[in-house]
Amino acid sequence: MTSTPVSWTAQWIASPVCGGPRTTAPAPYLRKPFSLASAPKRAILHVTALGLYDLEINGQPVGDSVFAPGWTEYRVRIPYQTHDVTGLLKAGENVLGAILGDGWYCGHVAEKNRQFYGDRPRFLAQLEITGTDGTTCTIGSDATWKTSTGPILENDLLMGESYDARHELGAWSNPGYSDAAWQSVVVESAPAALLVPQTGPAVKRHERIRVPAPMPNDHAGIIFPRFDLGQNIAGRVKISVKGPRGMTIGLRFAEVLNPNGTLYTENLRGARATDNYTLKGEGTEIWEPRFTFHGFRYVELYWNGKPDQVTVEGVEGIVLHSDTPRTGHFACSHPLLNQLTQNIIWGQKGNFLEVPTDCPQRDERLGWTGDAQVFIRTAGFFMDVQSFFHKWLQDMRDSQGIAGDIPPIVPLTGSFGLPGDGGPAWADAAYICPWTIYQIYGDQNILRDHYECMGRYMAYLDKEKVLDCIRAHPDKDPWGGFGDWLALDGSGKTIGGTPIDLIGTAHYANNADIMAKTAGVLGKKEDERRWRDLHGRIVQAFRNRYVTPAGLIAAGTQTSYVLALHFNLVPEDVRPATARQLVRLIDKNGWHLGTGFVGTPYLLHVLEHTGHLDVAYKLLEQESFPSWLFPVKNGATTIWERWDGWTPEKGFQDKGMNSFNHYAYGAVGDWMVSTVAGLEIAEPGYRKILFKPRPGGSLTKAEAKLQSASGQISIAWEKKEGALHLDLEVPPGTSATLSLPKEWQTREKTDLGPGQHRIKATPKS
Ligand code: BGC
Repeated sequence: MTSTPVSWTAQWIASPVCGGPRTTAPAPYLRKPFSLASAPKRAILHVTALGLYDLEINGQPVGDSVFAPGWTEYRVRIPYQTHDVTGLLKAGENVLGAILGDGWYCGHVAEKNRQFYGDRPRFLAQLEITGTDGTTCTIGSDATWKTSTGPILENDLLMGESYDARHELGAWSNPGYSDAAWQSVVVESAPAALLVPQTGPAVKRHERIRVPAPMPNDHAGIIFPRFDLGQNIAGRVKISVKGPRGMTIGLRFAEVLNPNGTLYTENLRGARATDNYTLKGEGTEIWEPRFTFHGFRYVELYWNGKPDQVTVEGVEGIVLHSDTPRTGHFACSHPLLNQLTQNIIWGQKGNFLEVPTDCPQRDERLGWTGDAQVFIRTAGFFMDVQSFFHKWLQDMRDSQGIAGDIPPIVPLTGSFGLPGDGGPAWADAAYICPWTIYQIYGDQNILRDHYECMGRYMAYLDKEKVLDCIRAHPDKDPWGGFGDWLALDGSGKTIGGTPIDLIGTAHYANNADIMAKTAGVLGKKEDERRWRDLHGRIVQAFRNRYVTPAGLIAAGTQTSYVLALHFNLVPEDVRPATARQLVRLIDKNGWHLGTGFVGTPYLLHVLEHTGHLDVAYKLLEQESFPSWLFPVKNGATTIWERWDGWTPEKGFQDKGMNSFNHYAYGAVGDWMVSTVAGLEIAEPGYRKILFKPRPGGSLTKAEAKLQSASGQISIAWEKKEGALHLDLEVPPGTSATLSLPKEWQTREKTDLGPGQHRIKATPKS
């Protein structure tokens, strides 16, 4: 690996073959033979593509990334990878080979036609070789490379991949292969975007789920085998099959089944999500697609022939996601809450793929800013997402409009004809995400890097969206955003009942608060004063418009109370009254939540902080609809997009928007960790830890563990024989405070240094 900047002499190259907005082209194979007098002392390869690439040297794959070079705001920045390939080269003839995929660059992106960024994949590689005698030479992509099509007839992230094994090219990336029939590549002009070393984690293959046997065929009319992975994933399937030459096996994917046992694929919308493999007819054939992925639990294999003409010898689910190592663990005495935790983690795996996406299955899979900010705190506990978010916030800066607007989707795709501004709670990811990453990892760089972008959006709001400190004021901003997305309390289908200007102004206040705190951390005293002053004015405007003197909120939705309380927008003396009214609303709703994307992450925190822990537990343990455990009770293995994605009364929700793998409502994971188990940040980067277990509901024990930069932090509590037993672990170089629930006391120390601590608490008399 090298850190010196690459001085690029290589040229961008491509195949002369090109698809159209609606038609695909076969994946190009590229090769370049070259000779070395002796095995090199050192060989470094810098490589990237617009589109996707897989690389081979002398028949050996280079690296284990999937979907390299990844997805960024390609019009501004193109990441490249660097590999030390010394060990793959030898004296004599060597071959550099690459296969290019369409990926985000020229395949389908969301609802759009193909070729969103460009018409065909392009490739750039530069191999820098140092010989044992110290001489250097460079092999770069240029006009001397040759190209051919091969077995990959089409590939698309949304539509799937079609592979015809009869067109395999043999040992095409090995020396001695005759490429006489191959064509010359075309040399392309270099794009204007910056070439930068990749900073975010690459997508890798993770779990492999072997499915031993097809599902029993107990439904009439189903004749081809269906396989159940037992888990909704993002990834693909590797098959082992045997059958006659020329027979094509199709693979269809679904997250759930229809009542008649068939695959429910309607919610995939325009994503065909189908792979095809055409047999060469030479015994057992093993295949995994290269340039596609699907969101699914079930896969059906079918072919145009009799069921017994093909033998399916093996089906294996391959889980794909960005390489964000697992760091956190939560468990408790309640089996359904443990399953909910697993669903949250699988929701994260399924949607942290290059960018934080909304869903992995339908023709969307976009970096929705709102979804990302809602879930980031939970995500940062279960996995190390520091570099993942550094990279995505760079994408955000690259996608920011000239006027300062932050789009609803990053990288910017302009999907669904939406306005440039992401609006309340969506664009505000620009504040919540860097601030949260700073809290979790103590990382000031992310604040430094993002501060200017944050300031520019504040200026944009001031100019375009705010009237008298009210953001999304209907007189100024008739659109106003997505509201409390998918809350069940609205009259519209998707926008909940909480007024858009209330959501806007609450988040505007939070943005000003984060601006002030960030300026404080960065030592910008004057800025800090300015943002603090603005914050005060927004809070006052919020109170004037939405808070009655008695502490009632002018809109009677749970989310309006949650936001007012969570962002400290109600005067201190009426807070208890405001909180009591929230509890009444929940009670009126049969002890069910009524919040959408915006209110849900804070709901239980607010209840706990205002002295209503019992109500928080009632909601957490609620099993009837709508609740977190309702999908769990109905067999969910990931988090559903909608509380009512499926109900016994109504069946499936509107197929136009019904993902079974959307992580937003999984944001409750944060509360389970910080409050049920009781592992909380007291100072950024867990330099100080707060243990604040709050046992409640039917729970008798809970635990949380976190692999932090300083080492393992853990807490486990159990209620046993009238006492509360705690096991705590504090890593070197940090300290912790134990805050017991108010009804418990201990004679032991509650200021804890590094090491293991066992503490017993007894009820206060
Ligand atoms: C996406 C979201 C997103 C929303 C914005 C949906 O289509 O799936 O999760 O935040 O649109 O309104």
